[in-house]
Amino acid sequence: MQFSSDNMFELLKKLSNAHGLSGYEDEVRELIKAELEVVSDEIRVDNLGNLIAIRNGNEKKLMIAAHMDEIGFMVKHIDEKGFIRVTPVGGWFHQTVLNQRVILHGSKGKIYGVFGCKPPHIMEDDERKKIIKIKEMFVDIGASSRDEAIEMGIDVGTPVTSDRQLVRLGQKVTGKAFDNRAGIAAMISAMKETKSDATIYAVGTVQEEVGLKGARTSAFAIEPDAAIALDVCVATDFPGSESAHIDIRLGKGPAITVADAAGRGLIASKKVLKWLKDTAEKNGIPYQLEVAEGGTTDATAIHLTKAGIPTGVVSVPARYIHTPVEVIDMGDLQNTSLLVARALERADKYLK
Ligand code: CO
Ligand code: ZN
Repeated sequence: MQFSSDNMFELLKKLSNAHGLSGYEDEVRELIKAELEVVSDEIRVDNLGNLIAIRNGNEKKLMIAAHMDEIGFMVKHIDEKGFIRVTPVGGWFHQTVLNQRVILHGSKGKIYGVFGCKPPHIMEDDERKKIIKIKEMFVDIGASSRDEAIEMGIDVGTPVTSDRQLVRLGQKVTGKAFDNRAGIAAMISAMKETKSDATIYAVGTVQEEVGLKGARTSAFAIEPDAAIALDVCVATDFPGSESAHIDIRLGKGPAITVADAAGRGLIASKKVLKWLKDTAEKNGIPYQLEVAEGGTTDATAIHLTKAGIPTGVVSVPARYIHTPVEVIDMGDLQNTSLLVARALERADKYLK
């Protein structure tokens, strides 16, 4: 039985509302562990923090991977008045950051903060026209001094993430970190759903947003016969995105990546492509083909492991990626999980 849409919504909500800056994925890892415990024979966490859930089957080893981390910031300086400077972790577009409310994950628990700025009332004319860089921004946590900020549990190195709760948006949903909690939700539900005879390794990877790091070490240890990365991809169905001349739409099903980063990231294995496309067609699952120019996924690190691993990507189309207001279609999420679950059952045919 496929996850009901209510179950999938609740799962995504829990994952998206949780926090996990790159290198600090603990909260997300615990959620995945709780979900996968019942369907795994073994769960381990490696030295980097990757979660590896194993379901024993035949000698064929299949890896499915989704990154647990999200983009955010890290505290780098607290001034004498208690204002905080941060460094971006992951690919932020400066304009999306200003006046966001954030959560600082300090030693005494979660502390709210806001990216402050001058109001227009006191700006000079030329100031209004210029883009403010993250480097020039500061976070206000309501402290009056450096000592007070430190007393609140904040220090150099404190991780910072967006404060945003998932909500429904018509038939869609919006929230933070759908990159890649959508991929995690699809992976969890695929692992619960699949009747594959193969040995399945479901991996929640760390530090994808800062260099595909967890995918590299986990794939090396597992050395799978094939791998599928689950992630989000850039939808191009909103005003202004037409100029990319890429047609990926919400509601039209998961995207199967043919190539990303114009081939410098992944050029998907031909047999994996056929495996995924045939699976979608035989099961009546809608899909879209993606050739992307920017961005890449864990698949890039996985496919270059050891002597090379046949690897593909199935992704959930998302609007406004790398902002706290990402938007996806729940049907696409269901179909992403379904495509992966069914593909795991048909691997033998394609991976000789
Ligand atoms: Co990303
Ligand atoms: Zn991602």
